[in-house]
Amino acid sequence: MDSILVTGNGPLNGQIPIAGAKNACLTLMPATLLSEEPLTLTNAPRLSDIITMTALLRSLGAEVSSLQDGQVLAMSSHDLTSHTADYEIVRKMRASNLVLGPLLARFGEAVVSLPGGCAIGARPMDLHVEGLEALGAEIELKDGYLHAKAPGGLKGAVHEMRFASVGATENIVMAATLAKGTTVLKNAAREPEIVDLVGCLRKMGAQISGEGNSTIEIQGVDRLHGATHQVVTDRIELGTYMLAPAMCGGEVELLGGRMSLVESFAAKLDAAGVSVTETKKGLKVSRKNGRVSAVDVVTEPFPGFPTDLQAQMMALMCTAEGTSVLEERIFENRFMHAPELVRMGANIEVHGGTATVTGVDQLKGAPVMATDLRASVSLILAGLAAEGETTVSRVYHLDRGYEHVVRKLEGVGAKIERIKGQ
Ligand code: EPZ
Repeated sequence: MDSILVTGNGPLNGQIPIAGAKNACLTLMPATLLSEEPLTLTNAPRLSDIITMTALLRSLGAEVSSLQDGQVLAMSSHDLTSHTADYEIVRKMRASNLVLGPLLARFGEAVVSLPGGCAIGARPMDLHVEGLEALGAEIELKDGYLHAKAPGGLKGAVHEMRFASVGATENIVMAATLAKGTTVLKNAAREPEIVDLVGCLRKMGAQISGEGNSTIEIQGVDRLHGATHQVVTDRIELGTYMLAPAMCGGEVELLGGRMSLVESFAAKLDAAGVSVTETKKGLKVSRKNGRVSAVDVVTEPFPGFPTDLQAQMMALMCTAEGTSVLEERIFENRFMHAPELVRMGANIEVHGGTATVTGVDQLKGAPVMATDLRASVSLILAGLAAEGETTVSRVYHLDRGYEHVVRKLEGVGAKIERIKGQ
């Protein structure tokens, strides 16, 4: 397994290009299953999760061509050979469950493995099942697989989700595009990735309104046609790299970044003493003065503070002036980066869903281990700001969500290299 060696090297200056959003692409790709005509995605990120989703769609019989070094995905699901998403693929990537709604809507049946737990939590699918059953699906759990049927097709319905689940919103909205009649989805998730999905579905002929708000209305149509859609900028990669100058000093411009994607995150950075300004090309970030100040964070569904930036924010708070309390309200076990940061000299106490970080003057480089996608990048950020060398192992987690991380950070002056595993 490869590792990444980072050496603290002072301020960072320059530009970092931000890629298309992993979590938008992972719901846009299954949307191809809704139509027999081709769907082409541009600005797709080059990530291992995209390769996994490609493998899943191909296992169903869809055609997926990766063009222009992976930035263009030309897909077609004219003739499918299977409606089963296998455990072997789903267990590697939970987002595989996003084929459930499209398969059900177009073919009236789907067999999708339950993803099983992952490092950050149990991650059940009850909210997906409840929503699809509201549309008339019959779903039963057998041998670890959800067996879903809608022999007479899905029917529009009014459904209120108990929690604003991103994935459940995506599955239900995609399914409702081909249901008979109108669906009103209440307490829907409001993430930009959902707004992007709806934009693509609308290009395919879907009739949807309200995306980005808590109530989304979908008028079912008989069929959807092909389209070409540009994947929205990745707000989590954007937020991650905004923290690089915040932690190391200097000034970095994040190309493609827009304030609208990271408003609550940017507000927190501003309160901590980090200036974020929108330029024609993106977002420019630098510290207002020396040390940043501690701020409290509570993760919430969008537009609240994103859970996917909690680990990275904790890394910033490790050397902030004062004490920061971070409350993780979305996942039940998303502080595994804390003990690794403590190995680097951080002062962090975790009690259940709350982490209390008391800022120290300086982190010290150390060998640390990545445990999940966002924890791994928070350790890279900590290593950039630490004194000495940090080796982050198990970087396959990183490859899931950050394309060319070494190249992008080297480009702004970081001392970082990838060490090939034995
Ligand atoms: C999406 O996961 C993202 N993944 C996650 O990003 C992100 O952390 C999460 O949304 C929250 O923003 C993709 O978009 C591919 P949820 P998802 O359904 O859809 C519980 C990353 O790092 N829940 O909104 O799985 C669940 O256990 C990844 O890029 C149920 O209880 O998230 C969790 O505690 C990590 N029942 C909470 O809701 C359900 O049926 C939020 O889950 C579904 C979810």
